[in-house]
Amino acid sequence: MSKNTIKGLETLPEETVNVLIKNGYKNAKAIAISLAGDLAEDTGLSLDYAEQIIVKAVEKIAKPAMNAEELLDIELKRNKLTSGSTALDSLLGGGPWSGEITEIAGGFATGKTQLCFQFCVTAQLPTENGGLEGKVFYLDSEGTFSATRIGEMAVALDMDPRKVLRNIIVARALDSSHQIRIVQKINEIAQQENIKLVIVDSIASHFRSDYIGKDKIAERQLKIMQHASSLTNLAYVHDLVVVVSNQMVQKIDYVSGGSRHVPALGEAWSHRPQTRLELRKSPGQARMVRLTDSPRRPDGEEVFYITPSGIRDNPNR
Ligand SMILES: Nc1ncnc2c1ncn2[C@@H]1O[C@H](COP(=O)(O)OP(=O)(O)OP(=O)(O)O)[C@@H](O)[C@H]1O
Ligand SMILES: [Mg+2]
Repeated sequence: MSKNTIKGLETLPEETVNVLIKNGYKNAKAIAISLAGDLAEDTGLSLDYAEQIIVKAVEKIAKPAMNAEELLDIELKRNKLTSGSTALDSLLGGGPWSGEITEIAGGFATGKTQLCFQFCVTAQLPTENGGLEGKVFYLDSEGTFSATRIGEMAVALDMDPRKVLRNIIVARALDSSHQIRIVQKINEIAQQENIKLVIVDSIASHFRSDYIGKDKIAERQLKIMQHASSLTNLAYVHDLVVVVSNQMVQKIDYVSGGSRHVPALGEAWSHRPQTRLELRKSPGQARMVRLTDSPRRPDGEEVFYITPSGIRDNPNR
């Protein structure tokens, strides 16, 4: 029988390699972006040993330091996913970029889920049409996934709705721990399934309901940070577009005594998405979208419409 090996980690003892592969850690990428606690728990290896293995894996996959011109070429090659609205795309410099997290925050019925559905369809377009030519992993934490609605959006783009739906892998997260584990497992299948887009709709709901009360805040923040790291690594290592929706919460301003609405999950999470959008309702099916944070684009605001065909610049198309 041929010996099991993990490319880049040939120096590990055979029994370690066997236990890693048996538990789904089949390549250096999967190991590099896992958390030591999970690797130890999944494999039965000690925490110290799990940490050493992760360090070795990270050394294998980490890109060497580069000059900024080389980075420019890499940036130019990153995928930008069209939203169906040219106004929203231009706000984002082409749409959400691969390799990073884009957050869509907004109140109820502002169109967060509709935008996520639209991205599921456009992700499957050719790259020259603003697509990613790849599959989608959709993590549904609120039970609002609708295959019928995505089918309608596909038909509106002259795409075969069943083919589009076959390319979307949907997982329903039942609580925040389940959500964290699902994201860690995406890493294992991303490459073999040609996944190019990961959607989390929504990032916040389970964390907000699983950790209630002031005494749980520290624990909640720690879990959110772990989850954010998994998503960041997933985006970076596999060059995926990651789109997460987020709810809005009221924040009291103790200086002015007033309050304002801000995306949920607090300060620690707020620095993790590279790009942040906020949606607001406008009369009819119009929605205002505001870019509030981007590493490359100025803040700005645009309008799009939720139409029967999907997300559009014009209410009648
Ligand atoms: N087939 C459709 N044609 C036109 N508009 C639609 C269609 N389906 C849903 N919408 C509109 O989309 C809006 C709901 O958007 P969506 O479900 O994306 O909200 P959300 O921001 O995800 O809200 P929540 O926070 O409750 O999850 C509604 O105003 C609805 O009118
Ligand atoms: Mg929703």
